[in-house]
Amino acid sequence: MTIQEEVKKRKTFAIISHPDAGKTTMTEKLLLYGNLIRSAGTVKGKKSGKFATSDWMEIEKQRGISVTSSVMNFQYEGFHINILDTPGHEDFSEDTYRTLTAVDSVVMIIDSTKGIEAQTIKLFKVCRMRGIPIFTFMNKLDREGKEPLALLEELEEVLEIDTYPMNWPAGMGKGFLGIFDRDNKQFVQHHPGAEETYIPYQELENHPELTENGTYQDALNELELVEEAGNTYSEEAILNGELTPVFFGSALSPFGVQTFFNSFIRLAPSPAPRKSTKGAVDPQEADFSGFIFKIQANMNPAHRDRIAFLRVCSGKFTRGMSVQLARTGKELKLAQSQQMVASSRETIEEAYAGDIIGIYDPNAYQIGDTLLTGKEKYEFDELPQFPPEIFKKVMAKNALKSKQFRKGIEQLVQEGAIQLFRDKLTDSFILGAVGELQYQVFTYRMENEYNAEVIMEPIGERIPRWLKPEQADASLFDSGNLLVRDRHDQPLVLFRNEFALNWFKDKNPDIELIDLFETN
Ligand code: G4P
Repeated sequence: MTIQEEVKKRKTFAIISHPDAGKTTMTEKLLLYGNLIRSAGTVKGKKSGKFATSDWMEIEKQRGISVTSSVMNFQYEGFHINILDTPGHEDFSEDTYRTLTAVDSVVMIIDSTKGIEAQTIKLFKVCRMRGIPIFTFMNKLDREGKEPLALLEELEEVLEIDTYPMNWPAGMGKGFLGIFDRDNKQFVQHHPGAEETYIPYQELENHPELTENGTYQDALNELELVEEAGNTYSEEAILNGELTPVFFGSALSPFGVQTFFNSFIRLAPSPAPRKSTKGAVDPQEADFSGFIFKIQANMNPAHRDRIAFLRVCSGKFTRGMSVQLARTGKELKLAQSQQMVASSRETIEEAYAGDIIGIYDPNAYQIGDTLLTGKEKYEFDELPQFPPEIFKKVMAKNALKSKQFRKGIEQLVQEGAIQLFRDKLTDSFILGAVGELQYQVFTYRMENEYNAEVIMEPIGERIPRWLKPEQADASLFDSGNLLVRDRHDQPLVLFRNEFALNWFKDKNPDIELIDLFETN
């Protein structure tokens, strides 16, 4: 097969959702289609004692070490599917955000009984910022939830994205009859406890059990309304991330999952060209290229190894190949390459654009690094930095270990595990992270890898705003609105809250406050 054919087969995506919306259940159903697991029903494993494949990271967490995003891949209808797991729960970290830089599309699962929840908004914003196509699955239709029209309205209002319902539900909960599948012009009939059946629109007249049902009639009326007043279908708008196709269903039943996945596979983009210092890099280029979006240390505590997650962007990867690390110009041989399939690691021999591979990191890589073969030298665009929300002061527990302490912080910051700021006045170390988990991982790694125990003092949630260096007047700030500098020595203020920020703006209209993070 040619590189071009291989690339066209790739569909690389992540599933995002608020905890408990049904990400694990959905992942498991998709793996089932790919024959990757034999039976569903091990979700969460509360009952069976087993864990769903995608829940491996939870086990990692219980072992007291960091979590990992695993990648699941399987063949489906001639396509090569790569699903990147993004941790849900409180395991929120910059890793989660960065994982989204390595996918070509996203499936957003929403619990239709709850509507849009906090974590979904955060993750959505990152996808939106990058223009990633977003496919929405309104889950748990087997329960009484919010009205479909209200859910669409919520999506449009809260997330500010146009919606296009790909199907329309007739009823919900106990009275759920099925969905009008607009894409395939068929009614997917729900039979509690049994498999769904498909009735082409033109044959519906032979199904009085549906057509004479009031719920069916109501749904038909709503569908007409949606067809008249709703957004126009546009694949271009979907691919630009401006319009989200919405699918209603139930991951648990499962209902509407297969029709959703078939439409998704057809519409979701294959790997696209990626921006770099030489311009866009075409995934079909013969020369290999890729970038590192995550580094995972201590995957195996016995070996203390570090694995770098690489997204292939062009050409063909073959195990044992030599590549150049663009940042340093150093040649490296990629002898140990692995596919990160949940808890097992399989050696991978070849990979193409869209694939994610784990490579052994001899302490050479940093987040965002570009690996290349070929004559041309270039680097992929820097990965976006994400706004830290939780800040803590950090000190070495044992003053005699300050050398180890500094080395640990320096390396972990370089690796992208956490962000570092220094207090302008006292020079003390202040860490910034998007999730609590990053602090747990930081503390653990400082102790285990650098032999430096740390003490941390929370300073709470803060709003960072950068200043022009000439306007960084220390007398304007105090410990509430803390003046610090980032690792590039640029001054910024960590405002206590929105109120403090606005108050400062009113008092000091001449001082320019810069929001470096595009997601805000
Ligand atoms: P998450 O990974 O997004 O956190 O969610 P997960 O799939 O674990 O689902 C959270 C809960 O919601 C689970 O119930 C799961 O069974 C349930 N669920 C998922 N999809 C559906 C659906 O389509 N309909 C209904 N009614 N429930 C759904 P749990 O009580 O936490 O676990 P369990 O005891 O049922 O295994």
